[in-house]
Amino acid sequence: MSTTFTIDSATSRANPVAAPMKRLTVPAIRNRKAAIADGKGEPLVMLTAYTVRMAQLMDPHCDMLLVGDSLGQVIYGLPSTVPVTLEMMAAHGAAVVRGSYHAVVVIDMPFGSYEASPQQAFESAAFLLKQTGAAAVKLEGGAAMASTVAFLSERGIPVVGHVGLTPQAVNALGGYGARGRSAAEAEKIVGDALAVAEAGAFAVVIEGVVEPIAIEITRAIPVPTIGIGASAECDGQVLVAEDMLGLFERTPRFVKRYGDMAAFVAERVEEYAGEVRTRAFPSAEQTYAAKS
Ligand code: KIV
Repeated sequence: MSTTFTIDSATSRANPVAAPMKRLTVPAIRNRKAAIADGKGEPLVMLTAYTVRMAQLMDPHCDMLLVGDSLGQVIYGLPSTVPVTLEMMAAHGAAVVRGSYHAVVVIDMPFGSYEASPQQAFESAAFLLKQTGAAAVKLEGGAAMASTVAFLSERGIPVVGHVGLTPQAVNALGGYGARGRSAAEAEKIVGDALAVAEAGAFAVVIEGVVEPIAIEITRAIPVPTIGIGASAECDGQVLVAEDMLGLFERTPRFVKRYGDMAAFVAERVEEYAGEVRTRAFPSAEQTYAAKS
């Protein structure tokens, strides 16, 4: 076993641990925009992660892991992201940082933790970064949040913006339908992306918009765009991991199901239940024999 430890300074780990890969940095993510424009960089790969084991499995393949507030629905069965708390985000964020060595870990600021003022946002974001070791936060909203994005960025907190369909605003939007179908709404979303990029966001998630908007934003802003239900022309893509793995029967149209985790789990559990009921499990192989 190697005794050479790579200190993972990107997450300021108190105890050096063997880091099989070097962690990417926020500047490296931001600089990918220019590399992509020059035809030298690959699109950015981002997936949500909420738990240590999923983070371990996804980390080597991802540039960024997003501890999304979608954990409210995916992990906790809540009706929306609105009830998600800072404490929930901190607990899952810390698990994802513990399970990753390569990807930049970004944590969602939950609803109610940042909208009141830049100061409130700073306190919430600082809490998340201190509790977890993550590198950055993501917050929803455009022009209205620009001064907050600037406040955080200027104080050493890297921010990912999130425009278009912003799920925390579900009560105001009235649902999760694609945004930007009217000219006025399209103009507003493009303006939102420009505002948060100008304010210092190092990347911008564009969610649930008609494609021309995502293309226009991607061409207009100097930082990477990460699409979800947006366009293949974005500088990267993000999905909820459990959606793309097929854990749920119903997924939004923009999700490609790369597997059928729901069927896999149901079938394996049915098999186990059958073996318990027929006493086929545990067999001698899984049973401790007494010492002879
Ligand atoms: O919370 C989340 O998972 C997200 C992504 C879907 C972008 O914000």
